[in-house]
Amino acid sequence: MSRLNILILAGAIAYPLPAVAQNSDLQSPPHLQKIGNARQLIVDGKPFLILGGELHNSSSSSVEYMQSVWPRLGEMHLNTVVLPVAWETIEPEEGKFDFRCVDGLLAGARENHLKIVMLWFGAWKNTYSSYAPGWVKTNIERFPRVQTSDGRDTERLSPFSTTVRDADAKAFAALMHHLREADGDRHTVLMVQVENEVGVIPESRDYSQVADASFAAAVPAALMNFLETHQATLNPEFRAIWEAAGDKKAGTWQEVFGKTVLTDDLFMAWHYATYIDQIAEAGKREYPLPMYANAALIRPNYEPGQYNSGGPLPHSMDVWHAGAPSLDFLSPDIYFNDFARWAGSYTRPDNPLFIPEAQAGSVGAANALYAFGRLAAIGFSAFGVDDQGNVPLDLVGITNPSERVDDSPLSSMYVELARLAPVILEKQETGGLEAALIEGDAQRAARVFVGDYTATITRVASTVGANERIGVMFLQTGPSEFLVTGCGDAQVVFSTDKPGLPIVGVESIDEELFESGRWVTRRRLNGDENSQGQALRLYSTDSAGGRIYRVRLYRYR
Ligand code: DGJ
Repeated sequence: MSRLNILILAGAIAYPLPAVAQNSDLQSPPHLQKIGNARQLIVDGKPFLILGGELHNSSSSSVEYMQSVWPRLGEMHLNTVVLPVAWETIEPEEGKFDFRCVDGLLAGARENHLKIVMLWFGAWKNTYSSYAPGWVKTNIERFPRVQTSDGRDTERLSPFSTTVRDADAKAFAALMHHLREADGDRHTVLMVQVENEVGVIPESRDYSQVADASFAAAVPAALMNFLETHQATLNPEFRAIWEAAGDKKAGTWQEVFGKTVLTDDLFMAWHYATYIDQIAEAGKREYPLPMYANAALIRPNYEPGQYNSGGPLPHSMDVWHAGAPSLDFLSPDIYFNDFARWAGSYTRPDNPLFIPEAQAGSVGAANALYAFGRLAAIGFSAFGVDDQGNVPLDLVGITNPSERVDDSPLSSMYVELARLAPVILEKQETGGLEAALIEGDAQRAARVFVGDYTATITRVASTVGANERIGVMFLQTGPSEFLVTGCGDAQVVFSTDKPGLPIVGVESIDEELFESGRWVTRRRLNGDENSQGQALRLYSTDSAGGRIYRVRLYRYR
C-alpha cells in the first residue's frame, strides 16, 4: 500500500498526509526500505528524514554534562542527535556492563523530543583505539596492535586479531541487547554507526606478522567472486586499478591489484570490513537496527597512510560491500568544500546517502538542500552542534578562529526542511524533486530540470563574497507549480525545451508559511521582489527567515 494515499486541502494547498501506519509497522524497529526511487528510513511505520547534528566527542560521556547541551540542540531545531557511546563507558571492567550513561542519554533525548543515531566508539575512533577500556589498552599481548614496518606497536588495535574482534563484538552485542530492552518499543535510537573513521596511519598497512602472512596469501575467494559478479557496477576508479593489474580472477593482493600502496589500502579495507561485519552481525542478532561505517575523506594528493588507509572510501566501497554485508551502507564525513563530488560518490543504488558529519552554517544549509533534493539522502548531520562554531577549521582552510561559522543558517534551514519533510519524502518516492548547488569561486551558475522546465540558477553577488555557496531545492506540486526554497544570493530563471509554447512566464510567486499545520500565503512577490516578474530572487538572508516560495509558471509564444 502506498504510504501517501490521501490528499487534503490545507489552506489553499494540496498537502499529502502519510498513510496510517499498520500496527506491525509501529512495532518493527527503525529500518531501511526501498521506496520508489529512494531507500528511506522507516520509523514507526513512516518515512523519516534525519535533520541531525553530531555532538563533540566527549559530551555524551556524562549525563550531567549533557544537561546544558540538550537545550542548545532544541535551539538548533534538530530532530536527531548523533552521539558517541564508548566501549570504555559501558564495559569499564571486563564482563561488567554499566548502561547508566546510555539510559541517561535515552531519557535526555526523549525529554527533548529528539531521536538518536548512536556511534559505537569501540576498537577504533579516527584510526586510534583510545576509547577501548583500560583492561584492553594495557594488555597488548592479549589484544595486539597494528605494527609499523620497523616492528613497533602503534596505539591501534589490530583488525587481524580475533581476540580483539570477539571482545569488541561482545561489548557491542551487550549494548544492542540493552537498547532492545530499553528502547525496543520507543524507537528513540534510529541507527548505529559501527566504529568511527577506521584505517591505518602513518603507513599504508599493518606490518605485523599475521598481517604480512595474509598480505602474501591469495585474495579471498569471497572478494574475487563478489567483484566478478558486480564487475559492471564497480566504482570506476577501483575497476581501473583492477583492470590495470591485468583483470586477474585470482592471485595474491599485489598480483590482483598491482604493486602500489593502493593495494595496501584495499587489503586493509577488506580486513576492516570483515572485522566490522562481525561486530555488526553480533549487534544485529540482538537488535537489528540499520548500521553503517563512516569514512574520513582524502585531502588532495594524500597517499594511503597519510589518509586513513583501509577506510570505506569511494574507491574501496565495493571491497567494503563484499566484506561487510551486515552493514546497510557506508557514509562520508564531508568537511571539504567540494561537497557535491564527495556526496555523489556515496550515492549509489546499493548505497543510500547519510552524512553523519559535515560543516554547519550557511555552507551546511546549502549542502543539506542538495543532499536531500538531488541525492535523496536519508539524513544530514553537522558536526559539533553542542558548541557554536563547530567546524574543524583546518579542514576548510580557515586559520583564524574568529572566522568560525554561525550555526543559525543551518538551524533556520532545518525549520524549513522539517516543514517540507512530508513533501520531500513523497517526492523522493515519486519524483518531482530536484536541487542545485553552486560551490566554489569558479562556479557561477547551475541548471536543473524540473518537470517540463529548466531552472537556471545564477549568482547575484551584490551583498556577499562571490564565493558564497548557493543551494536551491525544487518540489514539483503541479505541472507548472513548484515549492522552492534556497539559501545564498541568487536568481532563478525558468525556461523550457519541451514541445509546446516556447517561452516561460512567471504567473505568480507567493511566499508561503506553514502555520498551525497548514500552508498560508505570507505575501505575493512581484516588482522589485521578482525582477519585474522575470525571475525568482533568493537572498542570503532567506535561510535566516525560513523562506519557502510557491512558483507558478505558464508558457506563451
Ligand atoms: C572526524 C571524527 O569522526 C569526529 O569524531 C571528530 O573528531 C571530527 N573529525 C573533528 O573534530
